[in-house]
Amino acid sequence: MRSEIGLIGLGVMGQGLAVNMAIHGHRVSVFNPTPELFDEFMRGRAALYPSIEGAADIRQLVDSLECPRRIMLMIKSGPPVDSVISELVDFLSPGDIIIDAGNSHFKDTIRRTRELAARGLLYLGIGISGGEEGALHGPSIMAGGSEAAWRSVENILSDIAAKAGGTVQCSGYLGPDGSGHFAKMVHNGIEYASMQLVAETYHMMRCFLRMNPEEISDVFRIWNTRRLQSYLIEITSSILAHSDGSTGKPIVDMIKDAAQQKGTGMWSVFAALELGVPVPTIAAAVEARNMSALKEQRERASGILAGPGLSSPVSVAEASRKGQMIEEIEDALYASLVCAYAQGFALLCAASIAYGWNLDSGQIASLWTGGCIIRAAFLNQIREAFDRNRGLCNLLLDEFFAGEVASCQDGWRSTVAAAANGGLPAPAMASALSYYDSYRLQVLPANLIQAQRDYFGAHTYKRIDADGAFHTHWPTGRERPVG
Ligand code: 6PG
Repeated sequence: MRSEIGLIGLGVMGQGLAVNMAIHGHRVSVFNPTPELFDEFMRGRAALYPSIEGAADIRQLVDSLECPRRIMLMIKSGPPVDSVISELVDFLSPGDIIIDAGNSHFKDTIRRTRELAARGLLYLGIGISGGEEGALHGPSIMAGGSEAAWRSVENILSDIAAKAGGTVQCSGYLGPDGSGHFAKMVHNGIEYASMQLVAETYHMMRCFLRMNPEEISDVFRIWNTRRLQSYLIEITSSILAHSDGSTGKPIVDMIKDAAQQKGTGMWSVFAALELGVPVPTIAAAVEARNMSALKEQRERASGILAGPGLSSPVSVAEASRKGQMIEEIEDALYASLVCAYAQGFALLCAASIAYGWNLDSGQIASLWTGGCIIRAAFLNQIREAFDRNRGLCNLLLDEFFAGEVASCQDGWRSTVAAAANGGLPAPAMASALSYYDSYRLQVLPANLIQAQRDYFGAHTYKRIDADGAFHTHWPTGRERPVG
């Protein structure tokens, strides 16, 4: 019997997806360019599933498939995807489907969709989130590209996707060409911001409140029972409770403080800059990873650059103040996370208009309620906000979230101020507060920037009391309309 789908790329995610498909009763043919990984998989995990069929090469994989052929690629983004596609296309017929399930850049997906359509082939670019665990037990799946292709593979992808709360299907078709990979990229931007915000709150409790990792683990565990409930809070509590096997010390203290990144967070900032959408908290998170990577320079700088009360540690809060500070930090984390998600959804909204995707933010929020790395309880409230008002251009304008964030601002401001006064970096949290204050203020100091630009570059400016553009000859003060 021929396989329903082929899968090329047996890395961690590819293997998990293949087994997940088999568990759900689907026949899947698999191939991997490096034989070692292929042999290990076929002799190991795949041996338990007769519906997983190994193919010795791409030609054999194609021949093993029922028509129309459906082939999923789970390989490193960039040229490797184009290379496998160019090898595949010679064996395919019009109507066959290629599904790129890797973290490809959305502009590559737009290009590939167009190139393959010229050959009568259908293309899907799907963002899959959830890591190794998600691939095996249920990821979040964001599909973009040919709707006909989606209908052809929907049954398989719906079977393997997460079901939030056992009911909410965390797989869906978002729109044409690069929309699925764009949504995944924004997911990763929010992921970076969320991880940085959690790390900053950990840093404050560690340095300000002199709490040890186990005590902080308990705080995150409690936070995970209420409005901050999320996958990242859950795993952070677990990580902080872990001891290092070889030293017995907290594992977090044995890990080098230099963050790495594969680049999807950076892509989301580039996309936001191109579209003119402010995403300062996502950008701050990417920058924080870059700063952390300057470990050697920071070690030198620590002996040169003075901070507040360099000679004595940050003042330790008395026990009574400690409880209040933990509550303030919780408020600051929640408000900052809402701002990070608001920035991500604003970016999705702008891209939807710019690329003609007609994205449904409520649908995307729903896809993210299960399986993915940024799954969080408040995504249900985000979905409700966009269901209340599909044209909502920013989450902060939703009545519920406007009220929630406003109720956090005292603790938020106090926490950001304490970080600044205490010499602790909180780039993501501070950027979120400035994003909130910038967005809510009717007048910003950009009028002075316009005057400066006109002074040195005669770039003109608009007035608040008249239409049109104006230029001032600043040495004489003589102003004139310029059309
Ligand atoms: C997911 C993750 C995943 C991510 C890796 C590496 O949704 O499952 O976002 O796709 O790419 O975890 O991420 P960084 O190396 O960029 O941190």
